[in-house]
Amino acid sequence: MARDRILTGYRPTGRLHLGHLHGNLGRMIDFQDRGDCFFFIADWHALTTDYQDTTYLKSNIEEMVLDWLAAGLDPQKVNIYRQSDLPEVCELFLYFSMITPLGWLERVPTYKEQLAQLNNKDVNTHLFLGYPVLQAADILIVQANKVPVGEDQLPHIELTREIARRFNYLYGQLFVEPEGVLSQFTKIVGTDGRKMSKSYGNYIALTDEPPVIREKVMEMITDPARRTRKDPGNPEISTVFHLHKIYSADLLEEIAENCREAKWGCVQCKELLASRIADSLAEFREKRKELGEKPGFAWEVLEEGLSKVRPIAREVLREARERIRI
Ligand code: TRP
Repeated sequence: MARDRILTGYRPTGRLHLGHLHGNLGRMIDFQDRGDCFFFIADWHALTTDYQDTTYLKSNIEEMVLDWLAAGLDPQKVNIYRQSDLPEVCELFLYFSMITPLGWLERVPTYKEQLAQLNNKDVNTHLFLGYPVLQAADILIVQANKVPVGEDQLPHIELTREIARRFNYLYGQLFVEPEGVLSQFTKIVGTDGRKMSKSYGNYIALTDEPPVIREKVMEMITDPARRTRKDPGNPEISTVFHLHKIYSADLLEEIAENCREAKWGCVQCKELLASRIADSLAEFREKRKELGEKPGFAWEVLEEGLSKVRPIAREVLREARERIRI
């Protein structure tokens, strides 16, 4: 059986947080020993919504690469590259754009949702609609068959399959139909009890120092019924308890009892959580600091990754052109 080709892309939106680590990034780390991995920084995708302000684009790319490495991705094992360094993606995107009916794009659920949500940005553009076609080109330019993503991305993977099928039907068999792979990890809640996300501002970044982690944990919502120290609480509705499930699994029964029987105050419970989270990130912080001290290292990694991906992309593009007779 052929080795899996595993591909995923991240928009360079800044620092990674616990939600990433317990979700998709954890999955990517698992995958690095189980197939050929292509993990790239999707800077063209970032432009589709943030073309008006590119001030932090370069530094965000650098931060993200270093965060990936410190979290455990090994550039010896995986290909880490930058989307905009691979113009072959752009050409394939052009051919896919020729054959993708507008109706397919208008039906993608993220399109209408985001159009409504991003009302502070002018995203009524050609490529905001065409975005999933670019994503299909990202995936198919290396013939990836597995794509680890969050649930919101599944419609894009489905569209990629449809584009692959249509290309194969029109020009002859070339592309495999990739499958989306969801993370098996639990959705992690942020400090306000909603899903942890950069855009909600409720995240704990992997680079946060212990005092910052403590500050954020102290702000977390617990059971509002515990108005005073003596009121018993229900741990299941406490954000703090949800995170204890991950960080203090060994003490979970005790923690729940301390809450239900008001043996602990919320501050005590939060102190424990803050120190558990801070400890779990100690190794990351150290490695991340080391990497940050080597100037230009992230760009070296991207260049090295590119040199391995480019020949593969060129070959796929050559075959695509041959099929189209162009
Ligand atoms: N659309 C993805 C996101 O917003 C990023 C992305 C771009 C991607 N190209 C990809 C993910 C290809 C998986 C495969 O998060």
